[in-house]
Amino acid sequence: MSKTTAAITAVGAYVPDYVLTNDILSTMVDTNDEWITSRTGIKERRILKDKDKGTSYLGIKAAEDLIAKKNIDPKEIDMVIFATATPDIMVAATGAYVASQIGAVNAFSYDLQAACSSFLYGMSTATSYIESGRYKKVLLIGADKMSSIIDYTDRTTCIIFGDGAGAVLFEPNTEGLGLQDEYLRSDGIGREFLKIEAGGSTLPASEETVANKQHFVKQDGKTVFKYAVSNMADASSKIMERNNLTGNDVNWLIAHQANKRIIDATAKRMELDHNKVLMNIERYGNTTSATLPLLLSDFEKQFKKGDNIVFASFGGGFTWGSIYLKWAYNS
Ligand code: UT7
Repeated sequence: MSKTTAAITAVGAYVPDYVLTNDILSTMVDTNDEWITSRTGIKERRILKDKDKGTSYLGIKAAEDLIAKKNIDPKEIDMVIFATATPDIMVAATGAYVASQIGAVNAFSYDLQAACSSFLYGMSTATSYIESGRYKKVLLIGADKMSSIIDYTDRTTCIIFGDGAGAVLFEPNTEGLGLQDEYLRSDGIGREFLKIEAGGSTLPASEETVANKQHFVKQDGKTVFKYAVSNMADASSKIMERNNLTGNDVNWLIAHQANKRIIDATAKRMELDHNKVLMNIERYGNTTSATLPLLLSDFEKQFKKGDNIVFASFGGGFTWGSIYLKWAYNS
């Protein structure tokens, strides 16, 4: 009997309407379009302006897009994994709320937090549940309202991040398509270089933490950049080596959209043609858990059944890795 693999069978996405351009940012902080474009590749990002809407709103919209496109009954979904670094509220899982709102009333759901690698790790979790035979339809959502944790007076972070969400459905496959291999890593050394200092159990919220702006993301960009370049390239070349893939065998690189220079360095190590490197960072910036599914959604029509896709990410923690997946359908 052939082994059951776990394949992506549908994709959905959502980004809010409001466009925050480099030019608008340059009226808010001391920066300019030339600096942002040349250092990051970002031109604009989407922002969820509504104060009363959280990350769940983005995730629900992406899931509803998928459900409508695939025309499935949400009652058939067994499980919803909600990958995010910006849950609606502390303690209560945002995923549980999202699952109820989309009508996935027979599913169980929880949040998965691994900063920018949340979605990549979520792919590993989702596929494992399918491969085990325990569940048949696992919905993985990656969503972040990064604007809720950004200090728009800090030019080193506010130019990078944006809001968005994407969703994929994993189902069993008997043709050997779907996830082939994964190489996932983490290193707690990264905790110092990319974090929100307060609001957790080590430094609960107080008047002082608010006054000190300790509830916003802070990063040592240079250090994170250095680790990101070497680790994302390492992970991607390792997964290729392990599966005897050359640059010619890989059809697409779907890499976390944090900085165009990091993605270019990874593609170079993989010896990939420029046109195989998928990018939308110029339009969305870094949407944290949503970058990979937003790429899948934007480029879905180009994928052919059997295409070899390498996913790669690097994020806070540090967390990083690479996944090799065979695409399972023609759009
Ligand atoms: O997704 C999670 C993982 N995160 C990442 O992968 C992010 C990794 N890091 C990066 O992408 C880059 O480090 C940044 C885009 C954040 C910064 O780019 P950089 O090339 O590393 O710039 P830098 O921090 O070394 O700053 C260079 C100069 C500095 O001025 P001086 O000291 O040379 O006079 C900064 O003060 O650029 C200045 N600068 C800016 N200038 C205009 C910093 N931010 C800005 C800005 N506009 N927004």
